Amino acid sequence: MSYSAPRVQVFEDAQSLADAAAGEFVRLARENVARSGRFTVALSGGSTPKRLYRTLAGEDYRSRVAWGRVHFFWGDERDVPADHPDSNFGAARDLLLAPLDIPSDNVHPMMGGSGDAAEAATEYEEELRRIFGLVGKRSLPRFDLVLLGLGADGHTASLFPGSGALTEDERLVMATWVERLHSFRITLTCPVFNHAACILFLVAGAEKAETLRDVLERPAEPSRIPAQLIRPSAGELSWYVDRAAASLLSNLNRR
Ligand code: 6PG
Repeated sequence: MSYSAPRVQVFEDAQSLADAAAGEFVRLARENVARSGRFTVALSGGSTPKRLYRTLAGEDYRSRVAWGRVHFFWGDERDVPADHPDSNFGAARDLLLAPLDIPSDNVHPMMGGSGDAAEAATEYEEELRRIFGLVGKRSLPRFDLVLLGLGADGHTASLFPGSGALTEDERLVMATWVERLHSFRITLTCPVFNHAACILFLVAGAEKAETLRDVLERPAEPSRIPAQLIRPSAGELSWYVDRAAASLLSNLNRR
Protein backbone atom coordinates (compact mmCIF):
# COMPACT_ATOMS: atom_id res chain seq x y z
CA MET A 1 0.00 0.00 0.00
CA SER A 2 1.52 3.30 -1.01
CA TYR A 3 1.42 6.30 1.30
CA SER A 4 1.89 9.87 0.20
CA ALA A 5 4.71 11.59 2.07
CA PRO A 6 3.44 14.05 4.73
CA ARG A 7 3.47 17.75 3.81
CA VAL A 8 5.07 19.83 6.58
CA GLN A 9 4.42 23.56 6.71
CA VAL A 10 6.15 25.75 9.26
CA PHE A 11 4.52 28.99 10.46
CA GLU A 12 6.06 31.84 12.39
CA ASP A 13 3.77 31.48 15.40
CA ALA A 14 0.58 29.86 16.70
CA GLN A 15 -1.75 32.48 15.25
CA SER A 16 -0.34 32.30 11.72
CA LEU A 17 -0.63 28.52 12.04
CA ALA A 18 -4.30 28.91 13.05
CA ASP A 19 -4.93 31.33 10.16
CA ALA A 20 -3.46 28.85 7.67
CA ALA A 21 -5.47 25.99 9.18
CA ALA A 22 -8.64 28.10 8.95
CA GLY A 23 -7.90 28.76 5.29
CA GLU A 24 -7.45 25.04 4.64
CA PHE A 25 -10.67 24.28 6.55
CA VAL A 26 -12.56 26.76 4.33
CA ARG A 27 -11.00 25.33 1.17
CA LEU A 28 -11.92 21.76 2.07
CA ALA A 29 -15.39 22.73 3.28
CA ARG A 30 -16.19 24.49 0.00
CA GLU A 31 -14.74 21.63 -2.09
CA ASN A 32 -16.67 18.92 -0.24
CA VAL A 33 -19.98 20.81 0.00
CA ALA A 34 -19.78 21.47 -3.75
CA ARG A 35 -19.02 17.80 -4.45
CA SER A 36 -21.26 15.96 -1.98
CA GLY A 37 -23.43 18.57 -0.30
CA ARG A 38 -21.77 18.17 3.10
CA PHE A 39 -18.41 18.42 4.89
CA THR A 40 -17.58 15.93 7.62
CA VAL A 41 -14.83 16.92 10.04
CA ALA A 42 -13.48 15.13 13.13
CA LEU A 43 -12.19 17.69 15.61
CA SER A 44 -9.20 17.08 17.84
CA GLY A 45 -9.04 17.90 21.52
CA GLY A 46 -6.54 19.66 23.72
CA SER A 47 -5.59 23.33 23.64
CA THR A 48 -3.94 23.79 20.23
CA PRO A 49 -7.14 23.72 18.13
CA LYS A 50 -8.84 26.34 20.36
CA ARG A 51 -7.05 29.12 18.47
CA LEU A 52 -8.32 27.65 15.21
CA TYR A 53 -11.88 27.50 16.58
CA ARG A 54 -11.75 31.18 17.61
CA THR A 55 -10.32 32.09 14.19
CA LEU A 56 -13.03 30.21 12.25
CA ALA A 57 -15.75 31.85 14.35
CA GLY A 58 -14.15 35.27 13.86
CA GLU A 59 -15.10 38.01 11.37
CA ASP A 60 -12.50 36.99 8.77
CA TYR A 61 -13.75 33.43 8.26
CA ARG A 62 -17.27 32.92 9.62
CA SER A 63 -18.98 34.01 6.41
CA ARG A 64 -16.84 31.82 4.14
CA VAL A 65 -18.41 28.45 4.97
CA ALA A 66 -21.95 27.06 4.51
CA TRP A 67 -21.97 26.01 8.18
CA GLY A 68 -25.35 24.32 7.84
CA ARG A 69 -23.63 21.73 5.59
CA VAL A 70 -20.81 20.97 8.04
CA HIS A 71 -21.07 17.92 10.32
CA PHE A 72 -18.84 17.91 13.40
CA PHE A 73 -17.46 14.77 14.98
CA TRP A 74 -14.64 14.14 17.47
CA GLY A 75 -11.48 12.08 17.12
CA ASP A 76 -11.45 11.47 20.84
CA GLU A 77 -13.04 12.56 24.09
CA ARG A 78 -12.16 12.57 27.73
CA ASP A 79 -14.48 10.58 30.00
CA VAL A 80 -16.06 13.72 31.46
CA PRO A 81 -19.43 15.42 30.92
CA ALA A 82 -19.83 18.18 28.33
CA ASP A 83 -19.67 20.97 30.95
CA HIS A 84 -16.43 19.73 32.47
CA PRO A 85 -13.46 22.05 31.67
CA ASP A 86 -11.58 19.09 30.14
CA SER A 87 -14.33 18.20 27.65
CA ASN A 88 -13.18 18.38 24.03
CA PHE A 89 -16.80 18.78 22.96
CA GLY A 90 -17.31 21.54 25.54
CA ALA A 91 -14.36 23.54 24.21
CA ALA A 92 -15.56 23.30 20.59
CA ARG A 93 -19.14 24.11 21.64
CA ASP A 94 -18.10 27.29 23.45
CA LEU A 95 -15.52 28.54 20.92
CA LEU A 96 -16.93 27.40 17.58
CA LEU A 97 -20.33 25.66 17.51
CA ALA A 98 -22.32 28.10 19.67
CA PRO A 99 -20.79 31.30 18.17
CA LEU A 100 -21.64 29.97 14.67
CA ASP A 101 -25.06 28.68 15.76
CA ILE A 102 -24.35 25.23 14.27
CA PRO A 103 -27.59 23.17 14.10
CA SER A 104 -27.63 20.46 16.79
CA ASP A 105 -28.36 17.82 14.11
CA ASN A 106 -24.91 18.57 12.70
CA VAL A 107 -23.08 18.03 15.98
CA HIS A 108 -22.11 14.47 16.89
CA PRO A 109 -20.25 14.39 20.20
CA MET A 110 -18.89 11.31 21.93
CA MET A 111 -20.66 10.75 25.26
CA GLY A 112 -17.97 11.33 27.83
CA GLY A 113 -18.79 11.09 31.54
CA SER A 114 -21.63 8.60 31.03
CA GLY A 115 -20.14 6.24 33.62
CA ASP A 116 -19.51 3.57 30.96
CA ALA A 117 -16.85 4.58 28.43
CA ALA A 118 -17.05 1.23 26.62
CA GLU A 119 -20.79 1.65 26.08
CA ALA A 120 -20.24 5.24 24.92
CA ALA A 121 -17.69 3.96 22.40
CA THR A 122 -20.14 1.33 21.11
CA GLU A 123 -22.87 3.94 20.77
CA TYR A 124 -20.56 6.28 18.87
CA GLU A 125 -19.57 3.49 16.51
CA GLU A 126 -23.27 2.81 15.83
CA GLU A 127 -23.81 6.54 15.15
CA LEU A 128 -20.90 6.61 12.70
CA ARG A 129 -22.26 3.56 10.90
CA ARG A 130 -25.68 5.22 10.63
CA ILE A 131 -24.49 8.67 9.52
CA PHE A 132 -21.95 7.36 7.01
CA GLY A 133 -24.34 4.67 5.78
CA LEU A 134 -21.82 1.91 6.45
CA VAL A 135 -22.78 -1.59 5.35
CA GLY A 136 -20.74 -4.62 6.40
CA LYS A 137 -18.46 -5.11 9.36
CA ARG A 138 -15.28 -4.05 7.58
CA SER A 139 -16.59 -0.82 6.07
CA LEU A 140 -15.07 2.45 7.38
CA PRO A 141 -16.29 6.04 7.59
CA ARG A 142 -14.28 8.39 5.41
CA PHE A 143 -14.01 11.82 7.06
CA ASP A 144 -13.38 14.71 4.68
CA LEU A 145 -11.06 16.20 7.29
CA VAL A 146 -9.54 14.93 10.53
CA LEU A 147 -7.79 17.41 12.82
CA LEU A 148 -5.20 15.92 15.15
CA GLY A 149 -2.78 17.17 17.77
CA LEU A 150 0.45 15.72 19.11
CA GLY A 151 1.18 15.04 22.76
CA ALA A 152 4.73 15.45 24.03
CA ASP A 153 4.69 11.70 24.78
CA GLY A 154 3.92 10.91 21.12
CA HIS A 155 0.19 10.26 21.50
CA THR A 156 -2.43 11.58 19.13
CA ALA A 157 -6.16 11.59 19.71
CA SER A 158 -6.33 9.13 22.60
CA LEU A 159 -3.90 6.67 21.09
CA PHE A 160 -1.32 6.58 23.87
CA PRO A 161 2.04 4.76 23.95
CA GLY A 162 1.68 1.06 24.76
CA SER A 163 -2.11 1.11 24.50
CA GLY A 164 -4.05 -1.85 23.13
CA ALA A 165 -5.96 0.69 21.00
CA LEU A 166 -2.89 1.06 18.77
CA THR A 167 -3.40 -2.33 17.16
CA GLU A 168 -7.22 -2.36 17.05
CA ASP A 169 -8.19 -3.14 13.46
CA GLU A 170 -11.88 -4.02 13.72
CA ARG A 171 -13.67 -1.54 15.98
CA LEU A 172 -14.13 2.03 14.75
CA VAL A 173 -14.29 3.51 18.24
CA MET A 174 -13.02 2.22 21.55
CA ALA A 175 -12.62 3.10 25.21
CA THR A 176 -9.07 2.98 26.45
CA TRP A 177 -7.72 3.24 30.03
CA VAL A 178 -4.83 5.73 30.27
CA GLU A 179 -2.82 4.82 33.39
CA ARG A 180 -0.79 8.07 33.36
CA LEU A 181 -4.01 10.08 33.44
CA HIS A 182 -5.81 7.53 35.62
CA SER A 183 -8.86 7.87 33.43
CA PHE A 184 -10.70 6.39 30.49
CA ARG A 185 -10.66 8.01 27.06
CA ILE A 186 -12.87 7.35 24.03
CA THR A 187 -11.06 7.36 20.69
CA LEU A 188 -11.45 6.64 17.01
CA THR A 189 -9.09 3.87 15.93
CA CYS A 190 -6.27 3.87 13.39
CA PRO A 191 -8.28 2.26 10.56
CA VAL A 192 -10.77 5.15 10.79
CA PHE A 193 -8.12 7.86 10.93
CA ASN A 194 -6.18 6.29 8.07
CA HIS A 195 -9.27 6.11 5.88
CA ALA A 196 -9.74 9.90 6.01
CA ALA A 197 -9.49 12.01 2.86
CA CYS A 198 -7.39 14.64 4.62
CA ILE A 199 -5.58 14.62 7.97
CA LEU A 200 -4.20 17.85 9.38
CA PHE A 201 -1.94 17.80 12.45
CA LEU A 202 -1.68 21.11 14.30
CA VAL A 203 1.44 21.31 16.51
CA ALA A 204 2.72 24.38 18.32
CA GLY A 205 5.24 25.06 21.07
CA ALA A 206 8.84 24.24 21.87
CA GLU A 207 7.73 21.46 24.19
CA LYS A 208 6.68 19.44 21.12
CA ALA A 209 9.95 19.88 19.17
CA GLU A 210 11.64 16.63 20.22
CA THR A 211 8.51 14.56 19.71
CA LEU A 212 7.78 16.13 16.33
CA ARG A 213 11.30 15.32 15.19
CA ASP A 214 10.87 11.72 16.44
CA VAL A 215 7.58 11.34 14.60
CA LEU A 216 8.84 12.73 11.29
CA GLU A 217 12.51 11.85 11.25
CA ARG A 218 13.22 8.88 13.54
CA PRO A 219 12.72 5.23 12.60
CA ALA A 220 9.24 3.78 13.08
CA GLU A 221 8.50 2.97 16.72
CA PRO A 222 4.69 3.27 16.76
CA SER A 223 4.16 1.67 20.17
CA ARG A 224 6.37 4.41 21.65
CA ILE A 225 5.28 7.13 19.20
CA PRO A 226 1.66 6.39 18.25
CA ALA A 227 1.40 9.48 16.01
CA GLN A 228 3.60 7.55 13.55
CA LEU A 229 0.62 5.23 12.99
CA ILE A 230 -1.28 8.01 11.22
CA ARG A 231 -0.62 7.37 7.54
CA PRO A 232 -3.76 7.77 5.40
CA SER A 233 -3.91 4.99 2.80
CA ALA A 234 -5.71 7.17 0.24
CA GLY A 235 -5.66 10.67 1.64
CA GLU A 236 -3.52 13.73 2.30
CA LEU A 237 -1.44 14.08 5.47
CA SER A 238 -0.31 17.57 6.42
CA TRP A 239 1.52 18.93 9.44
CA TYR A 240 0.98 22.58 10.28
CA VAL A 241 3.60 23.45 12.89
CA ASP A 242 4.98 26.64 14.36
CA ARG A 243 8.65 27.57 14.29
CA ALA A 244 9.15 26.61 17.95
CA ALA A 245 7.83 23.08 17.41
CA ALA A 246 9.84 22.74 14.19
CA SER A 247 13.14 23.84 15.77
CA LEU A 248 14.69 20.32 15.75
CA LEU A 249 13.55 19.28 12.28
CA SER A 250 16.10 18.82 9.51
CA ASN A 251 16.20 21.49 6.83
CA LEU A 252 14.25 19.16 4.54
CA ASN A 253 11.21 19.52 6.78
CA ARG A 254 11.85 23.04 8.03
CA ARG A 255 10.82 25.12 5.03
C1 6PG B 1 -6.87 15.30 23.71
C2 6PG B 1 -6.36 15.34 22.31
C3 6PG B 1 -4.90 15.04 22.32
C4 6PG B 1 -4.22 16.35 22.00
C5 6PG B 1 -2.77 16.30 22.34
C6 6PG B 1 -2.14 17.70 22.18
O1 6PG B 1 -8.03 14.93 23.91
O2 6PG B 1 -6.11 15.74 24.59
O3 6PG B 1 -7.06 14.70 21.41
O4 6PG B 1 -4.50 14.05 21.42
O5 6PG B 1 -4.41 16.65 20.62
O6 6PG B 1 -2.64 15.89 23.69
O7 6PG B 1 -2.80 18.54 23.10
P1 6PG B 1 -2.45 20.12 23.16
O8 6PG B 1 -2.95 20.71 21.89
O9 6PG B 1 -3.20 20.61 24.38
O10 6PG B 1 -0.94 20.24 23.30
